[in-house]
Amino acid sequence: MIISKGNFNQDTLKGEIAIVTGAGRGIGFEAARSLVWLGAQVVIAEVNEKNGKIAEEKINKEFGGGKALFVKTDVGNEKDIGKMAAVVFKKFGKVDIVLNNATVFPMGAVKDTPIASWDFSYGVNLRGPVLLARKFLPFMMERKHGTFVCVSSSGAAPFMGAYEVFKTAQVELANTIAAEVEGTGVYVFTIGPGISRTPGFMEGGAKVASLMGMSLDELFELNKNAQISPEAAGAGFAIAIALAQKYHGQETSSIQVLREAKISFANEEETELQTPTPSQEQQSQESDQVESRSVSELYEAVMKTYIEQSEGWKKRNLFERQWISRDFKKNTGITIDEMQMTLKALGNSLNTGAPTTEFIKPLNQLAAYYLHQQEQLKSFEKNLKKLEENLKIIDGWIRDAKALVQALN
Ligand SMILES: NC(=O)c1ccc[n+]([C@@H]2O[C@H](COP(=O)([O-])OP(=O)(O)OC[C@H]3O[C@@H](n4cnc5c(N)ncnc54)[C@H](O)[C@@H]3O)[C@@H](O)[C@H]2O)c1
Repeated sequence: MIISKGNFNQDTLKGEIAIVTGAGRGIGFEAARSLVWLGAQVVIAEVNEKNGKIAEEKINKEFGGGKALFVKTDVGNEKDIGKMAAVVFKKFGKVDIVLNNATVFPMGAVKDTPIASWDFSYGVNLRGPVLLARKFLPFMMERKHGTFVCVSSSGAAPFMGAYEVFKTAQVELANTIAAEVEGTGVYVFTIGPGISRTPGFMEGGAKVASLMGMSLDELFELNKNAQISPEAAGAGFAIAIALAQKYHGQETSSIQVLREAKISFANEEETELQTPTPSQEQQSQESDQVESRSVSELYEAVMKTYIEQSEGWKKRNLFERQWISRDFKKNTGITIDEMQMTLKALGNSLNTGAPTTEFIKPLNQLAAYYLHQQEQLKSFEKNLKKLEENLKIIDGWIRDAKALVQALN
């Protein structure tokens, strides 16, 4: 199993009880397997009875009886959640982990999607996680121990509105709960898998592809850097749960978690980090040039790098773009466009001689973001020569930004 390639032992989650919603197939099933590999017992809270039973049987056959328990559950139905909780508390006496994996993928343009599809999606993709939070968080907080996980997707995307809107809401639900449970020993975060050929996504993706005028394979090809197998995606979910404290209050992805855990997975070689390719000109910049440059030269260098980077980000595929823009905002506090406007405003102030102290904070944030890019690079680039070269280039960007800060000071 992919999870066995990491530095985790099979007692990591020993004694923990995990509810995985929608674990009858796809990524949920694989996440349940990986959680069991890490030592947990899993409750398969699945609406499809046939798949739920098969998943339970398969896991118990693979890992030994008693590791998986199927409880038929429609996550959007409050009564079902109550019944499932009663079964789980009676059998195990507690719940340590809730993984909100269940989903439905209603696809189509907003103007064509029946309101019933929005209601249906809301039930599974948002109402369900809220019901699970209401039911299990009080017990977790009382025991000062627990992990509550939401599952995100790419964010706004054409023809995926009735799905993505509630997935995005799940990110904010997790952020809200994370702030509310701060310091209680309960950890809350969101994780997205990447793109995975699961039964649900093959069905939903085919519809989106045809609305976009392409084949499903072409859609996957377009997003090949974000592709991940269901097993790897599930392993990423399980590892993030094992490291819940680290990811508390954050949104991460299986790809990122596996890289950070130094676990290789299929397609990894094709997957490039969101670190942009530097231009030849930047590569030739020498470190001692920085000190000798004027404020306007430093400004030009910072601006040039930023424009090149943001242009590069825009050319990334949809899923990577969403990830980069969230990662950028999380690390700098402002959006990519806001940073560009801020830098332009700095240029105007320099031209007119207006005060520039207000620009010091965003410039420091930009330098910190480049530093964060270096950390990401270190966690995935295996080619040492390439790593060294790219770290050096980013060093140059950091130096430029810091030198500009000094000059403005
Ligand atoms: N596959 C991808 O490329 C992809 C991309 C981004 C995000 N995701 C997310 O990953 C997670 C897993 O997706 P997947 O691709 O494995 O989906 P899938 O459709 O293959 O599996 C979803 C499971 O949820 C179950 N389910 C549906 N409604 C339910 C309900 N009311 N109550 C309980 N269970 C219910 C289904 O029966 C199914 O077993 C989802 O949260 C999805 O949004 C997947």
